[in-house]
Amino acid sequence: MPRPLTITIDGPAGSGKSSVARRVAALLGYSYLDSGAMYRALALKALERNVAPDDEARLEALARETHIELHAPTPELEAAGAKNRVFLDGKEVTREIRTAEVAQAASRLATIAAVRRVLVAEQQRAGAGGSVVMEGRDIGTVVFPNAELKIFLDASPEVRAERRWKEHQEKGERITVAEVFDEVIERDKRDRERKVSPLVRASDAVLVDNTAMGIEETARLIVLLAHERQNEATASAGTKV
Ligand code: DC
Repeated sequence: MPRPLTITIDGPAGSGKSSVARRVAALLGYSYLDSGAMYRALALKALERNVAPDDEARLEALARETHIELHAPTPELEAAGAKNRVFLDGKEVTREIRTAEVAQAASRLATIAAVRRVLVAEQQRAGAGGSVVMEGRDIGTVVFPNAELKIFLDASPEVRAERRWKEHQEKGERITVAEVFDEVIERDKRDRERKVSPLVRASDAVLVDNTAMGIEETARLIVLLAHERQNEATASAGTKV
């Protein structure tokens, strides 16, 4: 039996994290968890309730009283490109959380330390069993600092914006490449420069730049690295008597 691993994939918006993480999980038979969906779901609730993005006390209280669940998508949703199915207080919000407005609100809410504490604890619980691929911004640095395999996925800003633009197009949303580029750059800046758990590469994360690589190629590279880690773990267990 190969040793089950915890694999973390962090990186900026449009780096291909979700597609790659889902594919890696499928190839290894692991579960896939999208931590960004939790920030998005909470942001959707805050928007619906008109909570101001700088009202930290109310946002923390909202995080504490909110129940967010991630489930594997149905085969139909999977084929349509869905990630996890997301339930906010029991109601499915899988599609509602995928707007540019919710993305921006999530990025703002993610700068609040008390909110992060609540969601990080949830993520640690969700991934505690191992055999999991979790994607986000701080998974290798904060959520699972002892993960056996950490990936930092990146791509050029132009390619990342174009990928996000295509996603919006497929959903029939009218938005220009230039608008998406600005949105992605603004969100990256906030995610990288925030004081709590900023988006940084963990010192022991493997940097994978997939500007010129497809999803399948990137996923297979990560699976090769996973097998290498499993072999190393087996070999070192064998030498310990
Ligand atoms: O991965 P995403 O685009 O769905 O994430 C939405 C926002 O949530 C992102 O701009 C920053 C925040 N986020 C975070 O701060 N930490 C995570 N682990 C995941 C997402």
